[in-house]
Amino acid sequence: MTTATTRKLTMINGDGIGPEVCDAVRKVLEGAKAPLEFEYRDCGAEAVNKYGTNLPDETVESVMRTRVGLKGPTATGIGTGQQSANVQLRKRLDLYASVRPVRSVPGVKTRYEDVDLVVVRENTEDLYAGIEHIVVPGVVESIKIITEKASTRICRYAFEYAARKNRKKVSAVHKANIMKLSDGLFLDCFRKVARDFPQLQAEEVIVDNLCMQLVKNPEKYDVLVMENLYGDIISDLCAGLVGGLGVVPGSNIGTECAVFEAVHGTAPDIAGKGLANPTALLMSSVMMLEWLEMPDIARRVENAVWKVYTEGKVKTGDLGGKANTAEFTQAIIGAME
Ligand code: NAI
Repeated sequence: MTTATTRKLTMINGDGIGPEVCDAVRKVLEGAKAPLEFEYRDCGAEAVNKYGTNLPDETVESVMRTRVGLKGPTATGIGTGQQSANVQLRKRLDLYASVRPVRSVPGVKTRYEDVDLVVVRENTEDLYAGIEHIVVPGVVESIKIITEKASTRICRYAFEYAARKNRKKVSAVHKANIMKLSDGLFLDCFRKVARDFPQLQAEEVIVDNLCMQLVKNPEKYDVLVMENLYGDIISDLCAGLVGGLGVVPGSNIGTECAVFEAVHGTAPDIAGKGLANPTALLMSSVMMLEWLEMPDIARRVENAVWKVYTEGKVKTGDLGGKANTAEFTQAIIGAME
């Protein structure tokens, strides 16, 4: 039933394990009594059979209307075919900031403890602009686009995020020693924005050095801001520090709307078997609840997830447990206060 305070959201199941993890999250959100109404729309490989495109206009229009989407993973062909639905969605909705908090999960054994960092990745340009051409047969050129506008916007987002979340430090990740113009511009923008946030420490780190530092001392880092390609790679590296893609949330934020999604893929090897771990999408839904200014419900869901992990009795197969998706989901709902 829709009440005056009920928010509509666009639910995009996606492919593979997408429908399974989306269903689990919906059950948890209902269990948490989140005042949400779900508008289901299609996207991904399955959508191609129905609409002839992996991103139907109906889906984009729905997110524009509801202003918020919760999305399962979508399959993308490698080297051929249509551009990834994710990339298109980010472009069409101008979701310029990809934000991935990476935090050690209680009971998930990894090499590191106390990791608590956030990767803020520019989402709209860099080599991902997809501007490529064949110069002569056997020679291909891919163009890296970096603009002052997009770099300033993402750096400002990172500093504002850090200030809002009581973080201490923002690190700009770059390779300006080699790409003096493009990464140099990004760094200039970072420095200018940093001046407006004197309460936050601003540091600069070269991307290859960052990779080494992250595997040695990840607890040194707080908020990291970077261009698109570095962000893609670093965010997966960071997910690996805390137990992999199954436990890390993701979000794509724009000025008008936002889409929250797990960072893992469609897991074709376990799709349809009811074995998927919905934690990543669940934690993405916690970010979504915060964005929707429903902090109490966000805490209720997050605390329940943390409680189940801390107890360690109910775990899915990817984390060495025996529970299936339904049993894990039930455990989260049962742990809710
Ligand atoms: P993947 O993340 O789907 O799978 C890698 C491994 O992790 C598999 O063994 C899988 O079973 C496991 N896994 C992933 N998520 C899991 C979960 N929630 N619970 C339990 N186990 C999980 O990566 P892969 O195989 O490289 O990609 C498969 C497809 O997914 C491709 O078509 C790719 O394009 C797409 N993809 C989509 C993404 C998105 O929509 N955001 C992100 C990454 C990949």
